[in-house]
Amino acid sequence: EIFENSLQASALVASEIADLIKSRQEKGEKCVLGLATGSSPIKVYEELVRMHREEGLSFANVVTFNLDEYYPMNKDNHQSYHYFMHQHLFDHVDIKPENVHIPDGRVSLDEIHQYCIDYEMKIKEYGGLDFQLLGIGRTGHVGFNEPGSHYNSGTRIITLDYLTRSDAASDFNGMENVPKRAITMGIGTILKARRIVLLGWGHKKADIIKRTIEGEVTGNVPATYLQQHQNTTFILDYEAASEL
Ligand code: GLP
Repeated sequence: EIFENSLQASALVASEIADLIKSRQEKGEKCVLGLATGSSPIKVYEELVRMHREEGLSFANVVTFNLDEYYPMNKDNHQSYHYFMHQHLFDHVDIKPENVHIPDGRVSLDEIHQYCIDYEMKIKEYGGLDFQLLGIGRTGHVGFNEPGSHYNSGTRIITLDYLTRSDAASDFNGMENVPKRAITMGIGTILKARRIVLLGWGHKKADIIKRTIEGEVTGNVPATYLQQHQNTTFILDYEAASEL
């Protein structure tokens, strides 16, 4: 779906999420959301915060699992995805702290394998992801599933691509400060979500959006695996859709 601008599109995505939260609430059920970081979802989070403040949208029944976190990374570091999520969403709504899950960038290397298995298990225990919000990196990554990721991959530690690290350089005040690794949910984890919405804004994403939607399904562009998911929508502005 192509929109004139990201503001309009983000409002629509936020209202889909809000409707899902409310429909679960009415049934007395939890709503399990997979959440993304980066600049793409910021306006969606702003709109959800506005709905909480002005329309009384409650997050009391919401459980969240974030896609990824840099490794190593302290939670209170301003570049951490932990910090980002609290700054843009969690600090402004009534979500219960115990319902928030974000990969921990401080787990020791000895423990990380088990930690990732447990993260995956926790998603399963909540009945899987009802809704997964995604951005896309210019390597074709979703979460931090860089080229070479297997369609069946689970949560794990990965090595970041050069292009991904250079895109993150300005956030970290230079490439040398960007972590070389990250923990990410896998392609398999993402594809199990019952609904997926990927956001793409701006000219910089036009090439990878074209390759993702029109290209062959390949691990070299991991986002192409979304072509095989039954309930995925790409929400784009004119610029990101300009090469289609
Ligand atoms: C990072 C995140 C991805 C995100 C991507 C794009 O790599 N791990 O989840 O989709 O950045 O970021 P942006 O939305 O800022 O373009």
